[in-house]
Amino acid sequence: MYHVYMNYGPDQPVLYDITLRIGKAEFAFVTGPSGAGKTSLLRLIFLAEPCASGQILVAGENVARLPESRRHLVRRKIGVVFQDFKLLPLRTVAENVAVGLEVLGWPRRQVRRRVEEMLRLVDLEHKAHVLPARLSGGEQQRVAIARAMIGDPPILLADEPTGNLDAELSLQIYDLLERINARGATVVVATHDRAWVERTHRRVIALERGRVVTGGLPAA
Ligand SMILES: Nc1ncnc2c1ncn2[C@@H]1O[C@H](COP(=O)(O)OP(=O)(O)OP(=O)(O)O)[C@@H](O)[C@H]1O
Ligand SMILES: [Mg+2]
Repeated sequence: MYHVYMNYGPDQPVLYDITLRIGKAEFAFVTGPSGAGKTSLLRLIFLAEPCASGQILVAGENVARLPESRRHLVRRKIGVVFQDFKLLPLRTVAENVAVGLEVLGWPRRQVRRRVEEMLRLVDLEHKAHVLPARLSGGEQQRVAIARAMIGDPPILLADEPTGNLDAELSLQIYDLLERINARGATVVVATHDRAWVERTHRRVIALERGRVVTGGLPAA
């Protein structure tokens, strides 16, 4: 994205002159203190928030000025795991994962096969028919990731995917995100968890008070 500005209302600028480029199949962290704008940046890429000015290119297309009627086409290319996207409590794990394909009208058998594949990927085949309340935090997070990836989007955005998890479960989640990246998806993870970020040696885009302070452009 190039020279992107965003605000939540006339006197609430949030992102200032953001220029960054994340390559296809890259794995990048977005870090920064609370309030720096990490969540806002991911929401902007997912077109959940309008951008005030600048260009946002997703798979080569400038989507910053896309009319609402065409935004869903871009969103389909992006899997998201946001903290406020809860699992449906009265649906089983398998049903939660299937939601994204059902709205697209996929035939049942194909949905079932694809759900099985995703549950295998996140190592939760044995919990397919359980309700989310019966899962641990890490398992719920893996279900959310499976749900995000069900349509095989080329991009995955994850906001604090290890937010409430202990070190062991965090490791599992990062391992899963690495596997998704190894399958060819671009993965962008927002987190303030510096320890994890430093351990992985992945690219870091650091935000501070709505500006990119380091890492906006890939190391050549
Ligand atoms: N819906 C909103 N309306 C108005 N202001 C908002 C809204 N959401 C966020 N903000 C403001 O935008 C700024 C950036 O918030 P954002 O949630 O993007 O930060 P963050 O880096 O994700 O922080 P955290 O680490 O706490 O999740 C903050 O100053 C916040 O108060
Ligand atoms: Mg946030």
